[in-house]
Amino acid sequence: MTTNDRKRGLSTRSVQGMKRAESGPAVEPIYQTSTFVFKDQQEMLDAVQGKSDKDVYTRWSNPTTTNAEKKISALENTEDTVVLSSGMAAISSTIYGLLKNGSRILACDSIYGGTLHLFQDILPRHGIEVTYHPLDGFADAVEDSYGSYDMCFFETPTNPVLGIIDIRRVADAARTGSMISVVDNTFASPINQRPYEMGIDIIIHSATKYLGGHSDIIAGTVSGNSEQIGKVRNTAKLLGGTVDPFASFLLERGIKTLAARMVWHNFNALFLADKLSSDSRISRVHYPGLPSHPGHSIARRQMTGYGGMLAIDLAANLETTKEFVDSLEIFLNAVSLGGVESLASIPVLTTHYGFSKGELESTGICESTVRMSVGIEDPEDLLFDVKQALEKSFGY
Ligand SMILES: Cc1ncc(COP(=O)(O)O)c(C=O)c1O
Repeated sequence: MTTNDRKRGLSTRSVQGMKRAESGPAVEPIYQTSTFVFKDQQEMLDAVQGKSDKDVYTRWSNPTTTNAEKKISALENTEDTVVLSSGMAAISSTIYGLLKNGSRILACDSIYGGTLHLFQDILPRHGIEVTYHPLDGFADAVEDSYGSYDMCFFETPTNPVLGIIDIRRVADAARTGSMISVVDNTFASPINQRPYEMGIDIIIHSATKYLGGHSDIIAGTVSGNSEQIGKVRNTAKLLGGTVDPFASFLLERGIKTLAARMVWHNFNALFLADKLSSDSRISRVHYPGLPSHPGHSIARRQMTGYGGMLAIDLAANLETTKEFVDSLEIFLNAVSLGGVESLASIPVLTTHYGFSKGELESTGICESTVRMSVGIEDPEDLLFDVKQALEKSFGY
């Protein structure tokens, strides 16, 4: 067995993908071009007909993007990946690529607010019906729904309060019921969780987050088997959510440090979750790495690290919660997540703004919930920052 035959570890795959560069530049160049030149009509026709793998037009494919796609497939352990212009482009292209008018989706109601808006406001206009089920019992609902739906869609851990769904149970039930299973794996990253290995068909990421890792791009990914990703790719070509080659370059560059970054994200978030659990000014810490978390035993089975996202509910009203976030000195006051820098936001004022009381309750969010994307700064600095902001906002 040579080094190349052996299944590479996740850090090696993050840095070098599945094989060592043979010759030429150590870093793939950025093909910042919209179109590609052919020597004659026959060469062009062969490419258009798919008889050669030459790139024709960047909305269809581009070598810089293909390079990022290969690396993500290596990490998620899937046959293929398509990289698109945003996480939302990834989700919408998946749905339009794999479903049609009359199709039915069973979705968990604890999902990113933008996804929920797409499902509620756009899909029904195109004859795609979405039924929602709360996080609790979602896997049971997939099991009980045998044959009633064409797709099931969920996140785990969920945004923003880190609910956990049993991936293997959903994957098995979906397969039995001939449903396409789709998971948004953004919060976990492929370093901590690889749902394809547990039987899920389609893995989506907002690559804006951990994959890119530096809060400097917007991108999305869809991974799965070649046939289904082929359909998503062909649909995406026409919907037009193409990623720019420069963003693909930054994405692939970011992924080189993904495994290393996740070690710190996992460590820092667990450290904070643990320390904040005993603070009387915090009524609840949502982190799947804590034994007290209701999904902890499932998370332990399906994740190798618990990720850098955590949420806290302050024992306070919205005004104090705003004061707390405004008093933070290291955590930046910003939406998004998964970058090297720590961020904090209040879901009722951002991702879940305008949701009804009932909708918020069923997703476990309250007005004093603060979502924290824990970065890779020094853990003691982050803890000090949270403590000083608690002191300022609570007055003790
Ligand atoms: C879990 C999750 N999925 C999808 C998205 C959408 O991704 P993007 O903003 O890259 O379109 C987000 C954005 O915050 C997210 O948090």
